Amino acid sequence: MQDALRLGVAGLGTVGASVLRLVQEHGEHLAVRCGRPIEVVAIAARDRSRDRGVDLAGYVWHEDAEQLARSNSIDVFVELIGGESGPAETAVRAALSSGKHVVTANKALLARHGVELAKLAEANGVSLNFEAAIAGGIPIVKALRESLAGNAVTRVSGILNGTCNYILTRMEREGLSFEECLKEAQRLGYAEADPTFDVEGNDTAHKLALLTSLAFGCETSVDSIYLEGITEITTADIEAADELGYRIKLLGIAQRTDSGIEQRVHPTMVPKSSSIARIDGVLNAVAVETDYLGEVVLVGPGAGGNATASSVVADIADIARGDLMPTLGVPAAELKPYTRARMRRHEGGYFIRLSVFDRPGAFATIARCMAEKNISLESIVQRRRAPRSEAPEQSVEAPRTAAPQPVIMITYETTEADIQAALEAIGRENVIAGKPRMIRIERKPDAATAQG
Ligand SMILES: NC(=O)c1ccc[n+]([C@@H]2O[C@H](COP(=O)([O-])OP(=O)(O)OC[C@H]3O[C@@H](n4cnc5c(N)ncnc54)[C@H](OP(=O)(O)O)[C@@H]3O)[C@@H](O)[C@H]2O)c1
Repeated sequence: MQDALRLGVAGLGTVGASVLRLVQEHGEHLAVRCGRPIEVVAIAARDRSRDRGVDLAGYVWHEDAEQLARSNSIDVFVELIGGESGPAETAVRAALSSGKHVVTANKALLARHGVELAKLAEANGVSLNFEAAIAGGIPIVKALRESLAGNAVTRVSGILNGTCNYILTRMEREGLSFEECLKEAQRLGYAEADPTFDVEGNDTAHKLALLTSLAFGCETSVDSIYLEGITEITTADIEAADELGYRIKLLGIAQRTDSGIEQRVHPTMVPKSSSIARIDGVLNAVAVETDYLGEVVLVGPGAGGNATASSVVADIADIARGDLMPTLGVPAAELKPYTRARMRRHEGGYFIRLSVFDRPGAFATIARCMAEKNISLESIVQRRRAPRSEAPEQSVEAPRTAAPQPVIMITYETTEADIQAALEAIGRENVIAGKPRMIRIERKPDAATAQG
C-alpha cells in the first residue's frame, strides 16, 4: 500500500467536525478503496477550547489556517472555514502556491475567484476540488466533470437552497406566511440568524455560477445572474399556483440560448406533475439536460454536516487515487469567456396576479395592454377576496363588489421584455391597486415526468 495521504483540515464547524468523524469512522474502507490510508494530521479553527463532539487528540493544532496551508506535513488542505475572501481565500491561495491539493466546500470563494484559483492549481500541478460547494451531498460536480463528459449540456437547473425550499414547502402545506416559516426554519437550525443570503437567492446564485461553468465550459460570472429571492412570495401566490396545477420553487437555471447563456435565479412555477415539484423540505435537486443522454435528475440532501462531509471525502478519495481533474472540467485556459443572454430576451410563460378595480372597462384595458404586446392568455380567473375554502372561482363577468378583486392570468410563451412592458402599461392605466405580481413558469416536463 502507498504512503498515507495527509490532510490538514481548517474549519471545524458543522462540516469540518463531520469530516473528521467520517475519516475516523470509515478509515479502513477508505484505505481499501483508495489504495492508501487517508489521515488527518493537523487542524485549525479559532477556538481551541471548543468541544466539537469529535476526538481531536493526535492532531497538530494550528492557530493560523494559512500556516497550516503552507505546512510541509500535509498533502491536502481541506478548507471548511467559509467566506468569499478573508482567511479562507488567503489560506487556499497559500496551499495551492505551496503545492498542496485543496478540497473546499466554499461556493462563495469559488463563485468569485474560481477561475483564478483553478489557474493557480494548474500552475502548481495540484487539484482544487469542490464537490461539496454545490448542493451539499449530491455528486453533481463529478456528474458534470466526468459522467456526462461525452455530452453537450443544454440546460442545468435545480433547487439549490434547502432553506428556501423548506420555507416554500411549509408555506404551501400549512398556509403560513413567509415570515412565520422563516422563524420556524431558524428555530430548527435550517436558516441562519441572518437569512438574507439564502432567501434573497445569493447562495443559489453562487452555486448556479459554478454549475454554469461546469456545464458549458465557460468562465464563472456570478454578477451576470438575474436574481430574485422568495421574500415577496405570499400564501395568495401559493394558493393560486396550487389551483392552477403548479407549485412554486426557487430555481437556479442556466441554459444555452441563441444570444448566449441565460443564468437566472427566481421563484418559479413548475407543474405539479414534474419531478422537481415533488422535491420538498430541505432536499436539493439538480436537473441536467444533455444531447445524447437526455435529462438526468439528481436528488439528495443539499446541506448538513454529514451530507456535506460525504462530498468532501469523495474529493479527497479522488486525490488519494491520483485522479486529478481540472477544477472546472476543462483546463482553465480552455474556459470560454461567458456570453450573457439578456434577461429581456428570456422566453417563457408567466403567472400574473393583479388587484383589479371594479370599474367598467377595466378588463378590456388589461386585455388591450396584453394584446398590444402580442401576449396570449392561456387562462384568466377572478376570485372574490375570501378565505380559500369560501372562495368560489368566478368568470370575469361575475357580480361586482367595491373592493379591488384578485385576477390571475397565465400567459402562453412570451418574452420578458413584452410582459414587463405590458405590466408597465397596465400600471399606467389606473385599473389596478398596488403592483402586479409576476412569477415565471417553467413548463418543460423533466425526465421523470416524460418517462412516467
Ligand atoms: N453547513 C452546511 O450544511 C454546508 C453545506 C455545504 C457547504 N457548506 C460550506 O462549508 C463551509 C463551512 O461551513 P460550516 O457550516 O461548517 O461553517 P461553521 O459551522 O460556521 O464553521 C466554520 C469554522 O471555521 C472556523 N474558522 C473561522 N474563522 C477561522 C479562521 N480565521 N481560521 C481558522 N478557522 C476559522 C470556525 O472556528 P471556531 O469553531 O473555532 O469558531 C469554525 O470551526 C462554508 O464554506 C459553507 O458554505 C456548508
